[in-house]
Amino acid sequence: MADEDDIEPEESEEEAATGDDVDASEPAREKSKETAPAPMPGGSELVTLKIRRQDEGARPESKRWEEFEVPRSPGMTVVTALNAIRRAPKNKAGTDVAPVAFEATCLEEVCGGCTMLVNGKPRLACATLIDEVSPKAQAVVLQPLSSFLLVRDLVVDRSRMQESLRKVEAWVAIDAASSDEPTRQSQTDQRVAYERSQCIDCGACLEACPQFGPHSDFIGAAALNEVERLGRHPVGGLSNGRRLDAAMGPGGISGCGKAQNCVEVCPRKIPLTESIAAVGRSATRRLLKDWIFG
Ligand code: SF4
Ligand code: FES
Repeated sequence: MADEDDIEPEESEEEAATGDDVDASEPAREKSKETAPAPMPGGSELVTLKIRRQDEGARPESKRWEEFEVPRSPGMTVVTALNAIRRAPKNKAGTDVAPVAFEATCLEEVCGGCTMLVNGKPRLACATLIDEVSPKAQAVVLQPLSSFLLVRDLVVDRSRMQESLRKVEAWVAIDAASSDEPTRQSQTDQRVAYERSQCIDCGACLEACPQFGPHSDFIGAAALNEVERLGRHPVGGLSNGRRLDAAMGPGGISGCGKAQNCVEVCPRKIPLTESIAAVGRSATRRLLKDWIFG
């Protein structure tokens, strides 16, 4: 601990206001160094966004790349940059163009709507810093998710995710709450269920999955994660049989190719491969039970 005598007395408010103790001989450039703004990455004050555009999903002939430049600022996210383009939609060549369409509702990693490909990887645009994806002032490449139907520019139709959730009955049937079944949940189940409940339906896991897309009916990791989560719920678990039957049916768990890309890209760090493995074990138990007891 420091001796009391070693501690310098704090400057009084009056002294601070008058600045009496400032050394007037200090070179001006030293002072300006302290107040000068931090240099931007790569020395550039602008960031270039290279955006994949298309006027409508049904008009593939309108597909094109367009570049925009926006002033760079510390802490700027991809959504901030897109909003700057929205306010003044002029491309890099100086031509007035239609504003770039994109989704971003919450700006705090909750709605999942802003998921897009940033430099080829599925990410939440509201949580992606420009400095992180353009550390040397290189262009940031933005594309819509490719595994969903395109609506326009960076907007896609994610309703297939909701269809998958409907397929596995990803809800707790309220009527079952009146059941006489016990409704207590163990602490382990509570912890696991909480971890799995963090999904924001962003679709990143599906975009990264080679088994998901227009070429297949695989429901994907997010829906299988819900099967696992609700199976642990004291009331939701009562519909587990139907949920597992759906997960074992066409487009279900047998479609998983175990690429494990889903868990790499999930912004909520949900242990998706563990959820899928748990559903696989439950499905096997159900098959064996049906086989033995008919
Ligand atoms: S599981 Fe993760 S990556 Fe997949 S939709 Fe949910 S939050 Fe997004
Ligand atoms: S704007 Fe909602 S998650 Fe990004």
